[in-house]
Amino acid sequence: MQRHLISAADLSRDDAVLILDTAEEMARVADRPIKKLPTLRGRTVVNLFFEDSTRTRISFEAAEKRLSADVINFTAKGSSVSKGESLKDTAQTLEAMGVDAVVIRHGASGAPYRLANSGWIDAAVINAGDGTHQHPTQALLDAFTMRRRLTGRDAGLGQDLSGKRVTIVGDVLHSRVARSNVDLLHTLGAEVTLVAPPTLLPVGVGSWPCEVSYDLDAVLPKSDAVMMLRVQRERMNAAFFPTEREYSRRYGLDGDRMARMPEHAVVMHPGPMVRGMEITAEVADSPRCTVVEQVANGVSIRMAVLYLLLGGNEPAVTHARPPVSHHHPSDERSAHTPFAEEK
Ligand code: NCD
Repeated sequence: MQRHLISAADLSRDDAVLILDTAEEMARVADRPIKKLPTLRGRTVVNLFFEDSTRTRISFEAAEKRLSADVINFTAKGSSVSKGESLKDTAQTLEAMGVDAVVIRHGASGAPYRLANSGWIDAAVINAGDGTHQHPTQALLDAFTMRRRLTGRDAGLGQDLSGKRVTIVGDVLHSRVARSNVDLLHTLGAEVTLVAPPTLLPVGVGSWPCEVSYDLDAVLPKSDAVMMLRVQRERMNAAFFPTEREYSRRYGLDGDRMARMPEHAVVMHPGPMVRGMEITAEVADSPRCTVVEQVANGVSIRMAVLYLLLGGNEPAVTHARPPVSHHHPSDERSAHTPFAEEK
């Protein structure tokens, strides 16, 4: 595993499974009355958000606080300085303050990469979403959610998503969530199918490690998970489909369509959902929809990533061994000390 987390494509299968397994340990901390670990005591993490966010920002902050880090929130929206300059100036300010990690969300694809490789700062950089490019912790929390739902909570430990069929539906063109998921799901052995109107598929999608279909109804019965994407109007500079009604009719998920999915299959959404557009309220509120679970899992995943990038050689969770009745296969690993080194 590298020192930064910029792209889901940078993760090997073993890195990804280690993050998912570590997140399972972290999730058990969330079940305790005191949800805090001393792991990052004395370390400073900055959340640098140049773009809007609800879930991701709150989730990172919760993860950092649960690991006892000192947290600084910087919301840079509305800055009038040109992007490159303002990023450099900000980075130098952070460096002067001695931060250990920077979580960055930026409207420009490549901004986290630039921050990590510019020499402006020494800190570990975690990409919390850059333009239409990548959102690796989202892909990880999605994989974690699928592993739990589709292979069972404990049974998932050490496992990948081999043979699972995942369908990603909607505005792939503008979606960093789709790109990150295609990369990570491929690494984890899943079979991915993208379903979108041709105008919302990127040029070159043929070279991605996935299938493409324009027929949602045909793909649904063969899906273990169906991930709905928001139509990202804020990134659109043209008309990509005739009307909202037409879009929903062909690419939206409603109760009738959900009924075509296998019994065990789940509906996922990264949020924010636009009810009535890509997903109906009936589907969003159904027990098959994992949207709220994804948010909860996001905290565990971000704790795992922060721990693995910054935690050094301390064990992630020093038990207070759980009572025997809560025996968990990963207890065998409790003395295990995941790496912190760069390979
Ligand atoms: C997504 C994002 O910002 O990329 N949301 C998220 O992080 N949970 C998807 C979106 O905005 O539609």
